[in-house]
Amino acid sequence: MNITVIGRGRLGGGLAGLWRTAGHHVTELGRQGGDASAADVIVVAVPGPAIGEALDGVAGLAGQVTIDATNVYGPRATDHLSLSHQIKSVVGGPTAKAFSTNFAALYGEVAAQRTRPDNLYAADLGAREAAERLSLDAGYDPLYIGDLDPGARILEDGSKLTRAIAAQIGPHFYRYASPGRL
Ligand SMILES: NC(=O)c1ccc[n+]([C@@H]2O[C@H](COP(=O)([O-])OP(=O)(O)OC[C@H]3O[C@@H](n4cnc5c(N)ncnc54)[C@H](OP(=O)(O)O)[C@@H]3O)[C@@H](O)[C@H]2O)c1
Repeated sequence: MNITVIGRGRLGGGLAGLWRTAGHHVTELGRQGGDASAADVIVVAVPGPAIGEALDGVAGLAGQVTIDATNVYGPRATDHLSLSHQIKSVVGGPTAKAFSTNFAALYGEVAAQRTRPDNLYAADLGAREAAERLSLDAGYDPLYIGDLDPGARILEDGSKLTRAIAAQIGPHFYRYASPGRL
């Protein structure tokens, strides 16, 4: 896939490295912006309050499949139902929220785990295939929690649980199991 990652910090830069290793062509855009017109998939990995400014600086956003990996810390900076909905209102394509419940600090350790960690995601139908492919190619098992509406908001509100667990055990993986899956 031809992927443009907007935000090249811990999360965006980390995923870009994993996806290159898996054979994808990845362009990372930072604060200076750039052109995403060649992208099959857009990935947004900037701080929540910077989403508007970051997308304003990128040309060629025109209905591509989009993966939103952002999280909410503190008060919401948008009137949209979720940050994913804010991003979708600009890019216009089918959108998924994914990677927001995993820790970039552990990307280097994913492949060494006994079982693949899960990656919770919510998505429009048209973004499911990309979210699943890119989860697998980063070393995670994708775990669908439902449509973008209201799944993205559920994931964003759930980041408080992720942080509460991290306060006890630090950056962590997780894996949900029906009987027989563990
Ligand atoms: N780190 C994690 O483990 C983790 C996990 C889940 C979700 N997230 C979410 O992922 C997002 C990124 O987190 P991060 O940890 O990768 O942050 P980070 O390391 O601080 O990187 C932030 C990136 O966003 C860019 N940026 C900041 N302000 C911008 C602006 N106004 N316009 C355009 N680009 C801007 C920066 O550009 P420059 O490179 O040019 O400075 C940088 O590439 C956040 O929403 C965070 O909540 C992070």
